[in-house]
Amino acid sequence: MSTEAPVSSARSVTNIDSMLKEKRVFKPSAKFTREARIGSFKKYKKMHKASLKNPDKFWGKAAEELSWFRKWRKVCVWKPPFAEWFVGGKLNASVNCLDRHLEGPSRNKAALIFEGEPGDVVTLTYQQLHREVCLMANVLKKHGVKTGDRVMIYLPMIPEAVIAMLACARIGAPHSVVFSGFSAEALKERTNDCGAKVIITADGGFRRGTALAVKRNVDEALLGTPKVKAVIVVQRTKQDVNMAPGRDFWLHDEVQKVSAVCKPEALDSEHPLFILYTSGSTGKPKGILHTTAGYLLGCHLTTKYYFDLRPEDVYFCTADVGWITGHSYVAYGVLSNGGTSLIYEGAPNFPEPDRFWRIIDRHKVNIFYTAPTAIRSFIKWGDDWLARHDLSSLRLLGSVGEPINPEAWMWYHEKVGGKRCPIVDTWWQTETGAHMIAPIPGATPLKPGSATLPFFGVDAAVVDDNGEETAPNVGGKLVIRRPWPSMLRSIYGDAARYRKTYWSEVKGCYFAGDGARRDKDGYFWIVGRIDDVLNVAGHRLGTSEVESALVSHPDIAEAAVVGRPDELKGQAVVAFVTLKNGVPHSNNLKESLRAHVAKEIGPIAKPDDIRFTDALPKTRSGKIMRRLLKEAAASPTGDIKGDITTLEDLTVLAKLKQTEE
Ligand code: WTA
Repeated sequence: MSTEAPVSSARSVTNIDSMLKEKRVFKPSAKFTREARIGSFKKYKKMHKASLKNPDKFWGKAAEELSWFRKWRKVCVWKPPFAEWFVGGKLNASVNCLDRHLEGPSRNKAALIFEGEPGDVVTLTYQQLHREVCLMANVLKKHGVKTGDRVMIYLPMIPEAVIAMLACARIGAPHSVVFSGFSAEALKERTNDCGAKVIITADGGFRRGTALAVKRNVDEALLGTPKVKAVIVVQRTKQDVNMAPGRDFWLHDEVQKVSAVCKPEALDSEHPLFILYTSGSTGKPKGILHTTAGYLLGCHLTTKYYFDLRPEDVYFCTADVGWITGHSYVAYGVLSNGGTSLIYEGAPNFPEPDRFWRIIDRHKVNIFYTAPTAIRSFIKWGDDWLARHDLSSLRLLGSVGEPINPEAWMWYHEKVGGKRCPIVDTWWQTETGAHMIAPIPGATPLKPGSATLPFFGVDAAVVDDNGEETAPNVGGKLVIRRPWPSMLRSIYGDAARYRKTYWSEVKGCYFAGDGARRDKDGYFWIVGRIDDVLNVAGHRLGTSEVESALVSHPDIAEAAVVGRPDELKGQAVVAFVTLKNGVPHSNNLKESLRAHVAKEIGPIAKPDDIRFTDALPKTRSGKIMRRLLKEAAASPTGDIKGDITTLEDLTVLAKLKQTEE
């Protein structure tokens, strides 16, 4: 029997031991500060303090930046855990994203720039986008869609994906976007859960040089979706598809039959805008419900302050519309600010690993927003790919999706940003709708790996199991202690699950599921999902810290760390590591990695087992599927039996098994 401290449940996280100390600080450049909306740290702090002291005043004033048909009576009504924002107000999200930019010169600026994988480019000005949205909205109406009816969107990253969202918003039909890489089964389940009667899709989309069969998946899903009456099909690839008479309609035919004038519905502030499904590690996907005014305001303000978006900027976010980032920061936030949103259809390494750099150079992108998983791939592919392109148009970089390892941050800063661009590391979730914790460029000093400080009106804290704030550098649960406008309103059709999942863990607080610590300056450091926290001989370690230590070794491109049950220590640390191109596997390297982690964090975090692998299992949005790695770690042969429906690349599992020499 072990004499070590007992291993308590993974969800009980008081005192995540944090030993990784990142000391570098990057102050905003004088140029950025001079031109920024918020030009000093002092001003941010003052505004944040005032916003918490009187949130209704802050949000009420901010909401005046949106266009309303009727002003609200009350800023917030809070009946925990249910919030209503801007009660009594009426507005329309598509009007905010389109119509209000049609007066004056912005009507002829680019709203959307699309680059297809084959290299084709389409630019839609605000006037043109507005017209397309009105046409699609009228097509939906023609097929019986009324305010309140749900519409599924299952499209590749093409302009119609954004057009479809805004068309739904215009007539008050909540949309539910399903990532077009998801299976027929996933589409069927989500369609039935929200009871949609129309699906907007495409014949296919281009990915790695081939035409994906998108419509075929829809056909398969439709075998089990009795409520769906019509399918509107965008022609993208011109591949052969089955069109069922009376059910399937080409968009290009349908738009010929409707008017290009579509009066927007005046919708209640709390009218549902969309339902977006997120898959947790267990249970059926949750339909995260967002409503109109609060969500739009969250996206609008964070885009303005965190990306410092200007009318003349070209802004490129690499997220697919199937994720919340593709909703908030490809479509709603950018367009409500009158910005130019660039979207790209295909793979980042097609035809070669420099595709994103080529796009930045070709379109003179100023703001680039991507995920750490992508950044680590770029590092792995090598710096030469960047050197071929002029990236000097970039002025701001963003990161989202998981903690960015300090070494990946440094690479992003030096190689992509040329040391002149602030990196805005944005912590948020599908559920929060908009950024919650991130640095204000031009104001907040940056620390590589930290998402820094909360947005205005956001009362974020790190607490222990009793809900008490932890001392500096002591890890705990990341919570939000009061409602905010862009928060989810419920899980669609399951209010009890909403209450239980988000509001029952820490009394009176929204619990986000993440572990974090705050340093002595109050900066937030996300240490990973609470479910992933390791407990080694009574020490609780955040997986992301061990991973960051590994990635800071010059030979390592990517690392994922999981626990394996261990008689003696409670959990043993198992690390799956991907080496940079050209680095050979060796036992010496394993030893040097162990020593490196011991030096960076402490001997307690030294991996007991290191496995080299060519690739890590990830979801389609780039999150490492630790659940699968845990299984592989616990099995000497690397076997995995768990659910793999959200896995991006199935061949990874076979590769994991081949890792050991
Ligand atoms: C993680 C994506 C650290 C976190 C917008 C969160 C992050 C989950 C960051 C939500 C970040 C996202 N630093 N962790 N900057 N951004 N996460 O719903 O665990 O796909 O709870 O929303 O991603 O993922 P989701």
